[in-house]
Amino acid sequence: MKTVKNIVKALSTITGGRTVSSMDEVRSGDHPFVILKSSGIYGKEVLEIPGLIYGAPDKPVKKIAVCMTMTELVIELAGATDVDAIIAHHPIADAASCGGVTLKNYLDLYNIAGLECHEAFHGLHPGIAFLHGHKITASNISYGGIHGNIMFIGKALSDVHTLGDILDRLDSFMALDQDRQLLEQEQRIRGVPSIQETSVETKGFIHLGESSSKVNNVIHIFPHTGFSPDNLKTAVHENPEIDTVIASISRVYSGHELIETAKDLGLNFIVGNCHVMEILENGLPLAYALEELLEEVEVVLFRDRVTSTPVQEVGNKTMQGYARNIAEAHLLGKNATNIA
Ligand SMILES: [Fe+2]
Ligand SMILES: [Fe+2]
Repeated sequence: MKTVKNIVKALSTITGGRTVSSMDEVRSGDHPFVILKSSGIYGKEVLEIPGLIYGAPDKPVKKIAVCMTMTELVIELAGATDVDAIIAHHPIADAASCGGVTLKNYLDLYNIAGLECHEAFHGLHPGIAFLHGHKITASNISYGGIHGNIMFIGKALSDVHTLGDILDRLDSFMALDQDRQLLEQEQRIRGVPSIQETSVETKGFIHLGESSSKVNNVIHIFPHTGFSPDNLKTAVHENPEIDTVIASISRVYSGHELIETAKDLGLNFIVGNCHVMEILENGLPLAYALEELLEEVEVVLFRDRVTSTPVQEVGNKTMQGYARNIAEAHLLGKNATNIA
């Protein structure tokens, strides 16, 4: 019978030893992948700890779930489907990852262990570049001295010639057609044609250049990691052959300084997959590797799907009546008069 310890060992194998083996190692303060993530907002920082976050190391494990971000939805699905351990890519934090209560209370209730593996997983494989149609020739995971500011320099794959080829490639690899059909069906079943959904809404697009613009040498950036216009200028100065900027995981919208800088430098600018696809880009390969290393353990992937619906059209008439009545009777009663 496999245990939580075996999962930690598998994560260590997958990351080439980047995980922590004990909390003493975490407290020592010199583990390169134990990283404090903070915006400077009091009490809201989180310490990334690649490895076991909560649960007994000798707890038996028959089924594990790989997810991007642990949430109360993830914990509830795990509880309802006999999952023994959740492996989250993004760091786990008390309350934030578990419906506002403590991890201890919630995970103990369903007897689930929680593990994480974030920056320690980044940079292990060339898959994100591959999906975006290039082969990495140089990479940096702390560009400009900022930890986690990842940057790839790459050469277009032999069958990728244009910006349009990159968009078509992403569409096909990410099976976006499934998401489009699913959304159409959902809009029809719920009778709400205006429902929007992340995968469909955030598909790739071109900021600078045409579908037919040639692509040979790319710089692949991830704007949410702090990549700055100055970083772009420096990188292009160091790699003058670059003709195209690919932004993925997060993106920038019109008017952003990164686009202006790319324009000044005479580059194409294309937005690729967004964060919603990381579950397939990083999560699915991780799940395959865990399945291979943990014989007899069932591995499932937890994939989020978020939709946007006009408030008045959510649910059915009964639910709408409930929401209206509660709001009117209890939320807008005596308190509303105070506002006026
Ligand atoms: Fe990631
Ligand atoms: Fe991520």
